[in-house]
Amino acid sequence: METIRGKVSHNLDLTDFYARLANYDRITLDLGTGDGKFAFCHADNFPNHFVIGVDSCRENLHEHSRAKLPNLLYIIASAQSLPQELRGLVSHITINFPWGSLLESLLNGDDRLLRGLESVAGSSAALDVRLNGGALAEQGWSLEYGAERIFENLTSAGWNLHKPEMLDSHVLRSFPSTWAKRLAFGRDPRAIYLSGCL
Ligand SMILES: C[S@@+](CC[C@H](N)C(=O)[O-])C[C@H]1O[C@@H](n2cnc3c(N)ncnc32)[C@H](O)[C@@H]1O
Repeated sequence: METIRGKVSHNLDLTDFYARLANYDRITLDLGTGDGKFAFCHADNFPNHFVIGVDSCRENLHEHSRAKLPNLLYIIASAQSLPQELRGLVSHITINFPWGSLLESLLNGDDRLLRGLESVAGSSAALDVRLNGGALAEQGWSLEYGAERIFENLTSAGWNLHKPEMLDSHVLRSFPSTWAKRLAFGRDPRAIYLSGCL
């Protein structure tokens, strides 16, 4: 499994990975973590949670992955091919403001993504997905219909989701991720929040 700290990649083997996870009762996976700010803030605020940020693009991760928090790890991987090492370990999955192939897979109900989420999730794992209007518009969907499609795909894959919630610019402004801040001050500061559990 390829991990990154600053600009340096490191292949973490299973023994070292499990050693790092020992003593943590909760593992959070932030998928499509971008520059990793949300994962960093979560790890900093919840020292008893182990937080794993995953993104397919390494360049954005250079800054936050330098952080020396014992409970924070960044992995370079595609959401459609999550590392086997994560199987059954994750208690909380977050997907904040996905775009590109991650968003496409949510919209298409891509089995590689949905099976991957199910396989990394432990029993009763929680899921939080935040979707924004601009990213959905780029894929030809309105915020409402895109969110509805993703809601249906996740529900069919076994997730029990609450009623979708609209997030406005005030909520986005206080949300600790780089993309949330950009959206809050951008042209279309609307997002929809889906949450639930397996
Ligand atoms: C708009 S950014 C959001 C970043 C972060 N979650 C935030 O709130 O600031 C979307 C991220 O999804 C990542 N992404 C897109 N497709 C992906 C895939 N198939 N696997 C992993 N990451 C992906 C992109 O590289 C990008 O960093």
